[in-house]
Amino acid sequence: MKNVSIAIDGPSGAGKSTLARALAKEKGYLYVDTGAIYRTLGYYVRRRGADPKDEVEVLELLRSAEVELRYGEDGLQHMFLNGEDVSREIRLPEVSKYASIVSAHAGVRAFLLEMQRELARKHSVVMDGRDIGTVVLPDADVKIFLTASAEMRAKRRCLELQQRGTPEPLDQVLSEIVQRDWDDTHRAAAPLRQAEDAVVVDTTTLNFEESLTALLRVIEEKIG
Ligand code: DC
Repeated sequence: MKNVSIAIDGPSGAGKSTLARALAKEKGYLYVDTGAIYRTLGYYVRRRGADPKDEVEVLELLRSAEVELRYGEDGLQHMFLNGEDVSREIRLPEVSKYASIVSAHAGVRAFLLEMQRELARKHSVVMDGRDIGTVVLPDADVKIFLTASAEMRAKRRCLELQQRGTPEPLDQVLSEIVQRDWDDTHRAAAPLRQAEDAVVVDTTTLNFEESLTALLRVIEEKIG
């Protein structure tokens, strides 16, 4: 049977990862969090003290980075960098900034493209990111553009950071989100944008259950 691919793109904090994970569980597909892959590279660049803006330096460094996705018994995606599980470290706010900067380099995106496509060839996937429906899987069976207001996304991110034990003030999180939105949508290489054939789901006024129901409805309509 043909593998199914569901692409979910949108700005940070729209609920992509939580919802994509729940969807994957519901459908029995593999959840692929592509942001975690960029975060792993950002983390590596930061740890090695390289300049994330310098594409040549970053690409040179990536030659020594072996990035792997492994799935635990819990079904959760873990990121391994040169054999080390860095799944926790890549979530730190300072890594977000590095991930955003390194992800703007065309060479970095090319480095990761095949890895992402290979996962979708081998498995039915729910894949989330910024350019999944536009670049990585242009023939995805379902494309969803998940969004929410910047204020709501900042509130959700604050709650998440608090639960992780690394709280940050709301105004700081909001300004980082606004900056990251701008960076992600204005970069030359694969900017964040809605694919023409994507269905927009705005979760500003929806709770988790309502958002999940909305997404399942879109999938049902597209592929039954
Ligand atoms: O979804 P996230 O916040 O974990 O993503 C981290 C960064 O990676 C974000 O600034 C944008 C970038 N990214 C990207 O450019 N393309 C993707 N497919 C996924 C993430």
